[in-house]
Parts: sequence; structure tokens; C-alpha cells
Amino acid sequence: MTKVMTLGQFIIERQAEFPYAKGELSRLLRDIGIAAKIVNREVNKAGLVDILGEAGTMNVQGEAVKKLDVYANDQFISALQSGGECCLIASEENEDVIQINSEVSRNAKYIVAIDPLDGSSNIDVNVAVGTIFSIYRRKTESGPCTKEDVLQKGVDQVAAGYIIYGSSTMLVYTTGHGVNGFTLDPSIGEFCFSHPNMQFPKSGKMYSLNEGNYVHFPEGVKKYLKYCQVEDKETNRPYTSRYIGSMVADIHRNMIKGGIFIYPTTASSPKGKLRLVYECNPLAFIVEQAGGRATNGFTRIMDLNVKEIHQRTPIFIGSEEMVLKAEEFMREFSPELKETLLVAEA
Ligand code: AHG
Ligand code: MN
Ligand code: MN
Repeated sequence: MTKVMTLGQFIIERQAEFPYAKGELSRLLRDIGIAAKIVNREVNKAGLVDILGEAGTMNVQGEAVKKLDVYANDQFISALQSGGECCLIASEENEDVIQINSEVSRNAKYIVAIDPLDGSSNIDVNVAVGTIFSIYRRKTESGPCTKEDVLQKGVDQVAAGYIIYGSSTMLVYTTGHGVNGFTLDPSIGEFCFSHPNMQFPKSGKMYSLNEGNYVHFPEGVKKYLKYCQVEDKETNRPYTSRYIGSMVADIHRNMIKGGIFIYPTTASSPKGKLRLVYECNPLAFIVEQAGGRATNGFTRIMDLNVKEIHQRTPIFIGSEEMVLKAEEFMREFSPELKETLLVAEA
């Protein structure tokens, strides 16, 4: 009989990788895993909205129905608040950071940045959505943890992960020792170890970006896109286009099949659309740990300065060779952006 290893068992087994850790990080990851299961249950019911009531209305029990991204946010916050291992949360759904001031949490070591529901425009249409999280050690030793504690570079992340609520639900995470994936077995309610040591293929055939924004793309991206579409036997072109519109799902697919995901600057989003702290940095950490690459077209995502929690950045992420190629096009055709992005970051 094949032995099933649950996420909980795996985390405990791997705790030895952190010689000085006392189990706090393990407990934090476990808390996130529990919240993910609760969110999963609700995501699975999303199609029942007509029966259960629409967001903003009252349901049959007389409870206010929340939008799923608000619901997911509440679940993760409450799991982190009661878990006792996290002193501060930065969430896409909250303008300001959330301090956890309870007796047990006030001096906790860790900070969590989170996009509780990624790809929210896909909820109503039964397409995969996700959660992205990033874990840092606080900068101050003890006492109230403040916003300054979370303004750390991506390279300082202690752990990062995502949950994809897809045709099956998976939790994928890294603590800087490779990337491992767990699939939720709904019959036993456990994430089971299913994808050991995930590796990003060095190259691939898929490009994912919102081509509807083409006219607003920088010249370097326009030229790279045309490169992807040209016929060339040797390099396996033309490539295939795949864009789900949930970054987690697009990157998860590319990590398994090989590919590049790009969300560049556009005329309407001159700094890019996606958020550095709780979208790009955690995914960059995972992708790099799996052997892939993540930059803003010029600079490594995880080296970017973090000035505020909702900061945006353009992103080129995925198979190393493909990202390197796209960067060549950026250097040649959009060199002015390098400076603009550096100034925006300073
Ligand atoms: P969120 O739902 O957390 O706001 O994130 C949506 C993001 C990302 O997941 C996706 O890749 C991108 O927005 C899609 O944007 P476009 O609709 O502009 O392509
Ligand atoms: Mn998002
Ligand atoms: Mn979101």
C-alpha cells in the first residue's frame, strides 16, 4: 500500500531543516493550511450564489453574504490571529497593515503578506482562483510590530506559497529548500504530498499575457510577442498562448509545462498592475526555488526595494531561458524603462 503523507506530517518532518527554529514557522504554515481548507469549501460553493444569496445581500439564515475575496481575507486573518505565531499581516484587501496585539501574538516572530483571493474576476465563472502568501521574520525583536517590519525585500522571505483552487485544490510552498506541492483529498480533508521537488522547465512553449493590452505594451514586449509568434523549427516556435487571468493558475501551469508569464507596464498602469509584496515576491521566490526566473524586465523581482505594501511592479516570470530572451528584447527596444522603473522604485 502506498503511504500517504499529509501536509502536517511533512511540515514536522522538515522542521529539522531549521536548526534554531522552535516550531513557530511550522505552526504558522499549518494555520495557513487550515484556513485554505475553509476557503476551499466556500470557493467550491461559489456557483450556488443564486441559492445562497449574492454578495451584499442577506442569505436565508439572515446572515450578510460576503464577497469571496472578503470572506477569504477574514478566514486567513482569523486563522493567523488565533494561531499566535504572526504579529502583523499585510493584505491586498486592507489599506493598512493589521497588527495582532494579543498577549501571545504581540511578540511573535513572523509577518505574513497575503493576497487572499487572486483572480477574483474568475470566481463567478468557475475558473481557477488562488491565494498567495509570503512570510517574513519581523525586523524588530519584540514589542508592537509596525509597517516598517514588513517593508523587506523579496530576498528576505522566509517562506512563500500559494493555494490554487482548481479542478483539484493544491497548496505549493517553499521555505528556501526547493518547492513541494500538496493536493487536497476532499474525502479525508487533508492536503497530501503529491508533487515533490517541483522544477520549472528551463524552456517552454507557452506565453501568458493579456494580449488585449497590446497597443499599450512597451516596444520590448511587443517585439518579444512577435518573436513568440514567428515560425522557427529550431526553437519550437510559434509558441502557444494561454492566459487564464489568475496569476496563480497561469504560473502553476507554466511551472508544470514550461512557459513565461508577463504583466508589463501599460499606458494605464505605468508602474505595472501586479503587487510586489503579496503577489510578485512570493511567486518569484517559489519560481526561483524551482529553477525559474523572475524580473521586472531588467532587475530581479526579489531585489527590488519595498517602499509600501501595495507597491506595483511589472513582472516577467517563468522558464529561465524564456525570461532571459524577453529581457534581451526589453534591453534592446525599451531601454528607457530601466531608468523609469529604478526612479519609481527609489
Ligand atoms: P486579484 O484578483 O488579486 O486582484 O488579481 C488579479 C490579477 C492576477 O491574478 C491576474 O493575472 C491579473 O490580475 C489579470 O489582470 P488583467 O485582467 O488586467 O489581465
Ligand atoms: Mn491577485
Ligand atoms: Mn486578490
